[in-house]
Amino acid sequence: MHATISIPSYVKSQRLKNWVMDMAELCKPDSIHWCDGSQAEYDAMCEALVKAGTFIKLNAEKRPGCFLARSDPSDVARVEDRTYICSVNKEDAGPTNNWMDPKEMKATLEPLFNGCMEGRTMYVIPFSMGPIGSPISYIGYEITDSPYVVVNMKIMTRMGRAVDEALGDSDVFVPCMHTIGAPLKPGQKDISWPCNPTVKYIVHYPEERSIWSYGSGYGGNALLGKKCLALRIASVIGRDEGWMAEHMLILAVTDPTGKKTYVSAAFPSACGKTNFAMLIPPKEIQGWKVTTIGDDIAWLKPGKDGRLYAINPEAGYFGVAPGTNHKSNPNAMISAAKNTIFTNVALTDDGDIWWEGMDGPPPAHAIDWQGKDWTPDCGRKAAHPNSRFTAPAGQNPAIDPDWENPAGVPISAMIFGGRRSTNVPLVYQPLSWAFGVYAGATMGSEMTAAAFGNIGEVRRDPMAMLPFTGYHMASYFNHWLDMGRRVGMPPRIFCVNWFRKDKDGNFLWPGFGDNMRVLKWIVERANGTARALEGPLGYVPTYDDLDWRGLDFTREQFHALMAVDKADWMKEMLGHEEFFIKLFDRLPKELLCVRDLLLSSLWRSPDHWELPDYAVNN
Ligand code: GTP
Ligand code: SPV
Ligand code: MN
Repeated sequence: MHATISIPSYVKSQRLKNWVMDMAELCKPDSIHWCDGSQAEYDAMCEALVKAGTFIKLNAEKRPGCFLARSDPSDVARVEDRTYICSVNKEDAGPTNNWMDPKEMKATLEPLFNGCMEGRTMYVIPFSMGPIGSPISYIGYEITDSPYVVVNMKIMTRMGRAVDEALGDSDVFVPCMHTIGAPLKPGQKDISWPCNPTVKYIVHYPEERSIWSYGSGYGGNALLGKKCLALRIASVIGRDEGWMAEHMLILAVTDPTGKKTYVSAAFPSACGKTNFAMLIPPKEIQGWKVTTIGDDIAWLKPGKDGRLYAINPEAGYFGVAPGTNHKSNPNAMISAAKNTIFTNVALTDDGDIWWEGMDGPPPAHAIDWQGKDWTPDCGRKAAHPNSRFTAPAGQNPAIDPDWENPAGVPISAMIFGGRRSTNVPLVYQPLSWAFGVYAGATMGSEMTAAAFGNIGEVRRDPMAMLPFTGYHMASYFNHWLDMGRRVGMPPRIFCVNWFRKDKDGNFLWPGFGDNMRVLKWIVERANGTARALEGPLGYVPTYDDLDWRGLDFTREQFHALMAVDKADWMKEMLGHEEFFIKLFDRLPKELLCVRDLLLSSLWRSPDHWELPDYAVNN
């Protein structure tokens, strides 16, 4: 043991103290820093990161309080193939997760963690997912040797002394062990983004409710409160305790009478959650307003009044940078205007940042995300496709006044949406909760550069949770069905697809702010005031049911977006079946019944189903 630990006197939990001492003994850091979460601590750490070459301080006039970090090219995204759910029984992890026997995994990790922090400081980060003290919140402790992780956790969570005090002498917290896996030998010079370029493990022990992450310093691999705790471990806790941890944004829609309706939506990674959460309605849709509760994760618990209440467990946005601009997402641009950490974007000559798809023409010269000279004609991207900004949620001009309400907000509608250039219509409402669960369970999305697999290929990503469900996916479907029965008034479920394209590859739908037209119908539908027609997949709006003020969009264009082609959908259902066969051992029978009802509905529909031209009352 190299360093002595001085544990703050206000830390009372014996389990916590024992764990920190054990981990210090294992990792052998030079020193130990117990984070208090203060602004002074944050500022000092940012300054140290600048000195170490990890951070570049940005132009204080253009980006006050902002820093740029460039990661190692081997460390730019979550590593799904290195992510494990180590339940005691393999069957409990299910076929969609990597699994290793926990004993075997511990034997693998032990030598890697032994001495992994030599020459470095070990930080202890107390954090709360959700407002401190909320009955829906949960406390975690992350141990890390990455100061970059500490400052990001300060933005992304409620972090510091108040959490130690809220924990008190309780032993209920999730231990999150993280190392970049790059010890320093005496005298060895550090580099700007130390990590382990070849060995990476992101490991979850669901029965123990603990997390061990080795070798990466980036995003969800390293900020362990986010995907590891708030989704993978929380999904297990939620199953056991009767609540839900979902990869969902949460927003509020206020109508012209002032009535507020809360909506959550699950879209896979890099499919528009941040954009939708901060949507600005077209000005012609007068009196309607959207405010943000969260942009990535929702924890939902049944309330005594029979409704499902949601909190955003996070305190910041770790948002995709490319494509974000003042037109596509003004609120995100304002959120990231100050006090923000940028990772893997380009540096302009005047000390500001740039990425593909930002406003205006590209700069004539910049330094790209790998630190190389960049010009618009050089043939390389200036920013990495998965480059991100870490911005405090409170800086969002559209933040909802109740975003930190410890009681959460009551959800009236839930939306599922993937990235599908064919087949899937703009919007439909499954006939019931069970039909909605089927739609979520069979959701597909095309791969992007920020995600995994072959670009353009459809991957089944149930409820946008494929990489994030900490147990057997079919048991997770069962939990969803169960929640629908347990909650007296479950939200209405809807499906959307902003990404349908024509034969020439052009988007059929303008998207972004115009998504308000669809959202407005969804809200009215959830409140029982909008009309719908029964189509082959569920209830749908006719052209006359959407608000078209301010948009030149013809009936024919809308009908093309809403069309259901029988042969394509038969193939689509074969894709569902293929996925279901993988999950056979635990698949709820209810979903097979829904499948048969959908098949019979498709069977009866014309080869090319289109909305009628006349208005229908329903
Ligand atoms: P994670 O943070 O990875 O979970 O993803 P996210 O869902 O928050 O991703 P984000 O909102 O940052 O989505 C980024 C991508 O979605 C960008 O390529 C956007 O251009 C695209 N996008 C967002 N909304 C729309 C839309 O309405 N239409 C179209 N065509 N693209 C959209
Ligand atoms: C996602 O991939 O869904 C993200 C980014 O939100 S990360 O935090 O890196 O997982
Ligand atoms: Mn996400």
